[in-house]
Amino acid sequence: MGGISGPGLHVAGPGSDTLFAMLETLKTIRDEGLAELQAAATPQDLEAWRIAYLGGKGKLKAAMSGMKDVSPAEKPAVGKTMNEVKTALESAFKAKQGGGGEAKQAGRAKGPIPDVTVPGFPSPLGRSHIITRTINEMIEVFARMGFDVAEGPEVEDEDHNFIKLNIPEEHPARDPLDNFYLDRDTLLRTQTSTVQIRVMEKTQPPIKVVAPGRVYRPDEVDATHSFMFHQIEGLYVDHNVTMADLKTALFQFAKAYFGPESEIRLRPSFFPFTEPSAELDMKMAIKGVMQWVELGGCGVVDPNVFTHVGYDPEEWSGYAFGLGVERIAMAKYGIPDIRLLYENDLRFLRQL
Ligand code: DAH
Repeated sequence: MGGISGPGLHVAGPGSDTLFAMLETLKTIRDEGLAELQAAATPQDLEAWRIAYLGGKGKLKAAMSGMKDVSPAEKPAVGKTMNEVKTALESAFKAKQGGGGEAKQAGRAKGPIPDVTVPGFPSPLGRSHIITRTINEMIEVFARMGFDVAEGPEVEDEDHNFIKLNIPEEHPARDPLDNFYLDRDTLLRTQTSTVQIRVMEKTQPPIKVVAPGRVYRPDEVDATHSFMFHQIEGLYVDHNVTMADLKTALFQFAKAYFGPESEIRLRPSFFPFTEPSAELDMKMAIKGVMQWVELGGCGVVDPNVFTHVGYDPEEWSGYAFGLGVERIAMAKYGIPDIRLLYENDLRFLRQL
């Protein structure tokens, strides 16, 4: 079915839910009304139809009472559509009542001539999920700093998830209970650091990439943990890259993404694939209390990692970082619980 013809349906922008609900109701009344009218065979049928659709307690009147919930800005659009539906039903009724003589002879229904150039009912516009949006926004900031985008597989081997990242067999991170193993050597990647290895294996330095993607860990689900979440990995390899370059890059990112007043710090830490290593914290209000929240890990690439991918650690140096996308989205948009990001509850998503 096409849209209601005639002017008045130029609804600019996405429009509210109430608007769509009203327009949908009116469309249904019109479509069903015209179909039922066509089926009406006797004068009694016709009268029953008139009462049901055009009567004082009919469907159109009932729809009109919904007008009180429509915002003043959207009232004209709804009012106009309502009149069009009413006119369409009335003239179809009159044509049918009159035996359709004239109209039948003319070969078409009586009533206003449809303006086929008028756009139909607007469909609600979809948009990207908040996680996708956050990833895209982050990529945009890093792109301005000269980073390309790289991707890698979610199903990984131990070589890329652990061994080449300098994570030895006896490391607790390799405990089968802390990973989703698919078979002896295959698992769902636990970190996007795997993409560092994949990129270095097939590219010669200099390298400057960010790699966004999903990672998986058998964590208990609560307000800040999920068994699947997203990270964005960064890797820069060149001559004479230092911890100072890393700090500059991350601080620039934070200021660009969260605003110049944002407060961040690097806190010493340990990761097998970087030396020295640090964690990036940002100050933010959690339930009204300002505190440092960890956004991810980073460091200067460990020479062993370079050796594993065939780079000469005497010649090349680099920094790497891995940031939690959910953490960043929650910080940026003030989202209190990670689960809200996965439940696909439109009442939540529409607020963002
Ligand atoms: N892969 C680490 C994690 O998931 C985060 C990380 C730490 C990434 C240091 C890095 C890094 O690139 O240099 O916990």
